[in-house]
Amino acid sequence: MKSISLTRFLIEEQRHQHHIGADLRLLIEVVARACKSISIAIGKGALDGVLGNAGTDNVQGEAQKKLDVLSNEILLEANEWGGHLAGLASEEMDGPHTIPTEYPRGGYLLVFDPLDGSSNIDVNISVGTIFSVLRCPNGINGDEERAFLQPGAKQVAAGYTVYGPSTTLVLTVGSGVHMFTLDREVGSFVLTQRDVKIPADTKEFAINMSNQRFWEAPVHRYISECVAGKEGPRGKDFNMRWVASMVADVHRILTRGGIFMYPLDSKTKDKGGKLRLLYEANPMSFIVEQAGGAATTGRQRILDVPPTSLHQRVPVILGSKNEVERVTAYHAGT
Ligand code: AHG
Ligand code: MN
Ligand code: MN
Repeated sequence: MKSISLTRFLIEEQRHQHHIGADLRLLIEVVARACKSISIAIGKGALDGVLGNAGTDNVQGEAQKKLDVLSNEILLEANEWGGHLAGLASEEMDGPHTIPTEYPRGGYLLVFDPLDGSSNIDVNISVGTIFSVLRCPNGINGDEERAFLQPGAKQVAAGYTVYGPSTTLVLTVGSGVHMFTLDREVGSFVLTQRDVKIPADTKEFAINMSNQRFWEAPVHRYISECVAGKEGPRGKDFNMRWVASMVADVHRILTRGGIFMYPLDSKTKDKGGKLRLLYEANPMSFIVEQAGGAATTGRQRILDVPPTSLHQRVPVILGSKNEVERVTAYHAGT
């Protein structure tokens, strides 16, 4: 079988489909290269002293792992000199990163969660990198926060890498979702699935059940109906999975369907939710919609939420379309 590298895939998208230009192609290649470095660092595990806490907190008050900090540095260093970016923002930095003056600036903004699921690093469970690409609005400097405050519907590309038994890169440039697997011997990402589609129906849900007592009524109703199984109103048994790495949970949903929920609850209500709109919810929602699924806060399509701050949080319910629509209907009914 003819093997198609990420480079070739992107060049063909540029040449024949005109979905991307040279700058966006460069940007995606540079991000992919950075993800290869992160994959290597993670793969060393306990051998290289990279496990454990960095001893610092990020702007959101979360303890940073050494690999959170390292992954952030790898992505910054890889991207700041290429001339394709106007600015960068990350879950691990207080504000936008200013591109050093010696480098040219381009038209795109890169937003990322350098290491998602980092509570899983020390126990050797899959983690990932999530990224989102926006255009820098005219007349706004790429190191100003307001440049980044665009609804997710404006994303020009989004993707994630999951560092699991294999390293997989999942990408959309707005024309479907495509999966690439890292060939470790060759050192390149190879196209392994074109145009991934999420089944509309599912019998699998993902939620942190320990938060049950904090949920709102529509989520209580939905989950209790799933748990009631064959004898309940749904008339079928459901299975539950919760990796606690959003990348891994979303990857499973892209692969075999399912619904992922980090809904609004009384514990996180003051912050607006648990997951971050710009770094997690928007890129994942873009990918899920491009794969035929749906993504909502329960009350609004995630991609339509107007961001008001860089580190804003939102409730997230995404995955198989019919299930997400059911949860949305339960919210509308209350
Ligand atoms: P991060 O490691 O980037 O802070 O993100 C962790 C997120 C997400 O990946 C996961 O779905 C969720 O937090 C897990 O939260 P709980 O530990 O509350 O289940
Ligand atoms: Mn995350
Ligand atoms: Mn993170």
